[in-house]
Amino acid sequence: MARKNIAAGNWKMNKAYQEGLDLATAVVDGTETTDTIVIMSTPFIHLQSVVEIAKSKDNVKVAAQNCHQAQSGAYTGEISVGMLNSIGVDCVVLGHSERREYFNENNTLLAEKVKTVLGAGMQPIFCCGEALPTREAGEQVEYVSNQIKESLFDLSAEDFSKIVIAYEPIWAIGTGVTASPQQAQDMHAAIRNLISDKYGSEVANNTSILYGGSVKPANAKEIFSQKDVDGGLVGGASLKADDFLAIVHSF
Ligand code: 13P
Repeated sequence: MARKNIAAGNWKMNKAYQEGLDLATAVVDGTETTDTIVIMSTPFIHLQSVVEIAKSKDNVKVAAQNCHQAQSGAYTGEISVGMLNSIGVDCVVLGHSERREYFNENNTLLAEKVKTVLGAGMQPIFCCGEALPTREAGEQVEYVSNQIKESLFDLSAEDFSKIVIAYEPIWAIGTGVTASPQQAQDMHAAIRNLISDKYGSEVANNTSILYGGSVKPANAKEIFSQKDVDGGLVGGASLKADDFLAIVHSF
């Protein structure tokens, strides 16, 4: 899959049902049909309706925020890839730092989830990123590289090339502190080099790497203009259609 510009909104645990449909409708109505891919990652209860709403624009896709690693079974409260697939969901966000921190998801479990999502023909959006002490110690590249190696580097080149990576430094999520464009570029370049060393430059050049962490209309353009930044995974600012659309139009 060729490298694309992507603006992805992660609603997290926000929006009642009708509020979510209103947001999705406003986003779809305000999105022009361009080469930029727009993704809405919604709570499970919105997915089926948002898939319907998104159908009118080819460049708008829908993502779940998580799934279980097993195909089916006695896992009360969980959602399988088959269920997501059966309603036309395109992508699944995996390994968000909130899932890692509050739900104990580790690199090994995420490797399983990635394979399950790929096996169902959907696209994983794989999140990685370091906490503040790791950055302060200057160990962020090693830390993020390890997350990617342990969860993704068992994949064939063909499977790896279906993945989108989202670099989200934890210290920038929901804090209003954005990584500087240079900090984002440096990490994205390091990730692309790592992919190139493992899978070759063609796969690396075709991988979309998104930045996440306090992306807003005011800073999106500068961050997205960095050479190795292919877009953003947006939390808070994706909850208002006008803000998210301004970010969508920041490429
Ligand atoms: P904020 O944009 O609210 O900082 O959240 C980023 C994020 O976690 C997206 O997945």
